[in-house]
Amino acid sequence: MGGETIRALDDISLEIEHGEFVAIMGPSGSGKSTLMNIIGCLDIADHGDYVLDGKAINQLRDAQLAEIRNRKFGFVLQNFNLLPRLNAYENVKLPLIYRGMSRKEREPLVRQALEAVVW
Ligand SMILES: Nc1ncnc2c1ncn2[C@@H]1O[C@H](COP(=O)(O)OP(=O)(O)OP(=O)(O)O)[C@@H](O)[C@H]1O
Ligand SMILES: [Mg+2]
Repeated sequence: MGGETIRALDDISLEIEHGEFVAIMGPSGSGKSTLMNIIGCLDIADHGDYVLDGKAINQLRDAQLAEIRNRKFGFVLQNFNLLPRLNAYENVKLPLIYRGMSRKEREPLVRQALEAVVW
């Protein structure tokens, strides 16, 4: 389409340690969502390196990124992004199925997770 290239992030250098809490703040259009998408392995930077738990993320394929998201990230989105055809139990269960976890293993985990938020 010949649109001009937008540089969403420029000269970012950031190190986040295990257990560290970080808030990313900045004006609209400053690249917060772009950075979050890269950190969460939803997107890959055109240039530069991203190392997660000692592993270089830049060269990975989609399936490998999906595997990392499944095992290392919990996303809390403003609109939740639950699957409307599934009930709460099934929504929580689904990523564990993708992870290859047996029914016996996952059932107590799903219950624990739901019990933690139901009152
Ligand atoms: N899909 C897209 N196509 C073209 N440009 C985009 C796209 N997404 C983001 N941009 C541009 O990249 C830059 C960074 O956008 P980004 O969405 O990361 O900013 P942000 O800090 O999350 O903004 P906001 O506070 O409004 O959510 C902006 O110039 C934006 O216009
Ligand atoms: Mg944003």
